[in-house]
Amino acid sequence: MPRVESLLGKIDHPLSTLTGKFMGVGIAAIAAVALVLHFSIVEKEKRQLMEREEKAAVMLANAMKLPFTQILLYEETGLMREAGLLDLYISRMKANKEIGVVYAMVFDPEGWVLAHSDLTLFHTHPYDPLTRAALSSTGIALHYVGDPFRSGILDVAVPLSVSSKRFGTLRIGYSLAELSRSYAALKRKALALTAAASAAMVLFLFVTAKILTRPILRLAGALNSVHLGSLAAVPLPERRDEIGDLQNSYRIMVDRLRRQEEERERTRELIVNTEKMASVGMISAGIAHEINNPLTGAMHGMEALSRESLPSEKREQYMEILRGSLERIRRAVSQLLDYSTVHASNFSDCDVSRTVERVLSLLSYQLEKNGIAVDNRIPPRTVRADAHKLEQVLVNLVLNAVAAMPEGGRLTLRHRADDGFLTLVIEDTGEGIPAENLDRIFDPFFTTKGIGKGTGLGLAVCKKIVDQHGGRISVDSPQGKGASFHVSLPFPPRLGGNG
Ligand SMILES: Nc1ncnc2c1ncn2[C@@H]1O[C@H](COP(=O)(O)OP(=O)(O)OP(=O)(O)O)[C@@H](O)[C@H]1O
Ligand SMILES: [Mg+2]
Repeated sequence: MPRVESLLGKIDHPLSTLTGKFMGVGIAAIAAVALVLHFSIVEKEKRQLMEREEKAAVMLANAMKLPFTQILLYEETGLMREAGLLDLYISRMKANKEIGVVYAMVFDPEGWVLAHSDLTLFHTHPYDPLTRAALSSTGIALHYVGDPFRSGILDVAVPLSVSSKRFGTLRIGYSLAELSRSYAALKRKALALTAAASAAMVLFLFVTAKILTRPILRLAGALNSVHLGSLAAVPLPERRDEIGDLQNSYRIMVDRLRRQEEERERTRELIVNTEKMASVGMISAGIAHEINNPLTGAMHGMEALSRESLPSEKREQYMEILRGSLERIRRAVSQLLDYSTVHASNFSDCDVSRTVERVLSLLSYQLEKNGIAVDNRIPPRTVRADAHKLEQVLVNLVLNAVAAMPEGGRLTLRHRADDGFLTLVIEDTGEGIPAENLDRIFDPFFTTKGIGKGTGLGLAVCKKIVDQHGGRISVDSPQGKGASFHVSLPFPPRLGGNG
């Protein structure tokens, strides 16, 4: 039986489905948009965070500028001789954790350290780039030290001056730890938001894909049922879109197919009826022919026998004609009975090799007389069959082979076991069967033998018996070669009823 492959069954990869493709493209687009949005939002927020920190640092520097300038001014003018006031301010500033000062230092206009949070650097003259930049700047100078988002420092330098007179420079290291924390929190929040938005989008996409593909899948299912042989239109909800058009085409197609199928069924019934009538005619003609001829002979014989003046040897001759004719009628009737009667079958386990041997020994006289060499290659094999009927099949086939080899030849019997069938092959080297007769030889009363020589029922009986066994019989006759008959019996057997 051919394997019926489902249309939907061919879809094996998730991405090859409509939903899969839709989701694949959708997720790629969502990922791209999410990445761009995520980074642009984070970048913008980052800049704002930095600006906020810079403002705070500048405010702090400006707030510190006044007291430091005053101290330097008082010292310059001699109003104050209290040394260590700068250090006191610096140490207080550093001690106040809320301000976030990491270091602080005051330089005189020549660049000497007047006060420093690291006391060991007092009265040194550093030449580092930041100090040089701080000393040369006339306004507030800001410099980042290290990565601002990984606990870096914002270096703020502010000149300590009154009008155009510069008394020194204040440099503060402003801690960016708060900026790092805010940035980390921002990243977490942005990530959570992006993930939630993406998940919502994917869910939306999935639902949309399902809604869009459901009618297509429904239609595909309906088409699949046509593919599997059902011509009943699957009910589909009405739609006014392109899919609705497709559904209409499907309905029209199913309707047309159904009408064609009904038409075909009607034609098939017509053909069967015609064939039945033809075979009834053929059988009647066969019976008429098979019985009429010997009947005419018998009637002539009877007529002659009724004449009283008939010499005794002639009487004997006519009696022989009468007997022969009646025998032909009996044979025709018995073959016809075999063909048309449903005899109860007697199925049993039988060894085909023994059946074949029995048939060959039964027909050994005919085989020898016609100079036919027999090559029997059938090994012992058990099938469930009616041994007597199987014998009948083989007798008919061997007799046909004998008739096909009037000048002698070779009869080969072999076997094949495949596809759950045990096939017996009966092959001869006779005249073969013309191609135009191949389709007709199993018809009842088809014979090429002369009048009174064959009823044409032998192969019809064979076919009937093999059918009853759930088997098949076929013929093969390549041009110019003999014929080979193939009798296949189910193996293990499937019995064709009790007939
Ligand atoms: N082995 C064969 N080689 C050539 N022709 C064959 C062979 N077997 C059958 N045929 C052809 O098939 C025809 C039908 O065969 P079938 O056995 O049905 O009837 P028959 O042999 O003619 O008559 P019956 O079997 O009643 O004696 C034969 O007349 C013959 O033409
Ligand atoms: Mg025959």
